[in-house]
Parts: sequence; C-alpha cells; structure tokens
Amino acid sequence: MSVVWGLTTSVGLADMAQVITKSNRSRGPVTGTALASREKRPFLIDLYSTAVGKKFAMAISGIALMGFVLFHMIGNLKMYLGAAELNNYAEFLKRLLYPLAPKGAVLWVFRGGLLAMLALHLHAAWSLTVLNRRARPVRYQSPRDYEVANFASRTMRYSGLIVLAFLAWHLLDLTFGVVNTVGADGTFVRSEVYANVVRSLGRWPVALFYVLANLLLGIHLRHGAWSIFQSLGWNNPRFNSWRGAFATAFAAIVVVGNISFPLAVLAGIVS
Ligand code: HEM
Repeated sequence: MSVVWGLTTSVGLADMAQVITKSNRSRGPVTGTALASREKRPFLIDLYSTAVGKKFAMAISGIALMGFVLFHMIGNLKMYLGAAELNNYAEFLKRLLYPLAPKGAVLWVFRGGLLAMLALHLHAAWSLTVLNRRARPVRYQSPRDYEVANFASRTMRYSGLIVLAFLAWHLLDLTFGVVNTVGADGTFVRSEVYANVVRSLGRWPVALFYVLANLLLGIHLRHGAWSIFQSLGWNNPRFNSWRGAFATAFAAIVVVGNISFPLAVLAGIVS
C-alpha cells in the first residue's frame, strides 16, 4: 500500500491520467467469458464474445422476431374478410412508400432486417451452447434439478429448430410455391395469396403440420418472451408475475390466431 501511495504521489495527477488513458487504450476483454485476444476489437464485437453479450443479442433479435410473428398473424386475419382484402394487403406491403421508393423496396429492407435478426438469433443460440459446453466439458454426473429449469427452457433448442424447419417449409409452400402446385391450372400464382392459403391448408396433413408447428412456436415464444427480461437485466420481484403474464398472453395471442387459420380452412369458413 505504501509503495502504491508513494508511486501515486511521486508520479502526480497528470501522469496518473496518462497511465489511466494508456490502460484504457489497451483495455482487456469486457468480462471473464470474452475470448482473450491481443488485437483490439470494436466494443460491440468484444461484447458479443461474452455470454452476457450473446444473451443480449438473443433478447434484441428475439424482440424483433416476436414483432414479426405478431404482425404477420394480425395481417393474416384479413383472410376472414375475404380474398380481395388479403390479396390487397399483400399488395399494400409491396407498395409501402411507393412512389417515393421503388415498388417492393421497403418490403425488401424489412426482409433484410428480419433475415439479419434471424441469423443473429441462431448464431447467438449456437455459440451460447458452445460456450456452455466448453465451460462444463464433463456432463453432470448426478440427476439434474429440473425444478428450476422447466420443460420449455430445457427444450428451447429443439422447439427452435422445429420452428425453423417449419419456416423453411412454409416459405417453400406459400412464398415460392415449390410444394404448393395444386392450383386450378397446376401452377402457383404468387399474387393469389388467399387462394394459395386455401389450397395449402385445405390438405389436412398440411393443416395438422401448421397446428403442431404453431403449438411448438407457442412454447418457444412463451419461454423466450419470459427470458428477454432476464437477459436484459430487468429482473425484479416487483414485476416478475407481470412478466409471466405478459409472456403467456403474447404466446397465446399468436398461437390462437395462427392455429385458427388452418382450422378455418378445414372447416370451410375460409374457402
Ligand atoms: C397458420 C399460420 C400462418 C399463415 C396462414 C401464414 C401465411 C403466410 C402467407 C400467405 C405468406 C405469403 C405472403 C405473400 O406472399 O405476400 C407468408 C409468408 C411468410 N410467413 Fe407466414 N403464415 C403463418 C405462420 C407463420 C409463422 C408462424 C412464421 C414464422 C415463424 C411465418 C413466417 C413467414 C415469413 C418469414 C414469410 C415471408 C414474408 C415475406 O416474404 O415478406 N409465418 N405466410
């Protein structure tokens, strides 16, 4: 202590400031889990190399993806108003800000952002798994205490992967028409959104697949929406019950809305 004090007084405040600035310039990784690197990296990349940073990225990208599924479901409710309403809505999305911006440009910006958020969400999930495995190379030898980790939290990876597989099939089905070539003339017509939905969901195996995939999406959303608060550090006993209620309500609204579509087509309400 006396050595440090002696150093402090003899070096002086100006020199000390220089020492601090110098040490800032060669700051180390953000937290203990940051990968040690000699190179100086931008703050966000450095932060992303930590477990906290990856959880933060999962939360932010999760919020964006939640926003998408909610608005996608609300938009699809137009099918209850008839073919013209749903098809016009799809056309409206293509015409966002037109003629100020070229037709479809804004939609492509949204699609780019959505894809980037999905890529970030997947990468953060994958690298968090790698980080966890590295931290515990030897698996638990005793039975795990599953009272804390519930079914949804333990199965996030699997429900996420199944929803991803559903998404790939869904795009091939209703966006690219690769697996939905059963129209009147045997071809997929991109702009006939309503007819495409009726053709696709009118086949009961497809409708069943949509129902099951959306139930899994619900489990994933429920736990994801709940975890966001934890990942962002908004964890306070005062609003923890509110947190659970929000997550359940959000997941239920999206799932009930989405499941109603295949059921309505099968029941002939949407035809
Ligand atoms: C029963 C539920 C659903 C129905 C009826 C439905 C319907 C549709 C339709 C008709 C399209 C094509 C729109 C167009 O061509 O303009 C579409 C696109 C899309 N859907 Fe769904 N969807 C459902 C659930 C979901 C879910 C759960 C997700 C995400 C996990 C999802 C993600 C997407 C994406 C990313 C696109 C592409 C959007 C674009 O190209 O702009 N959908 N959906």
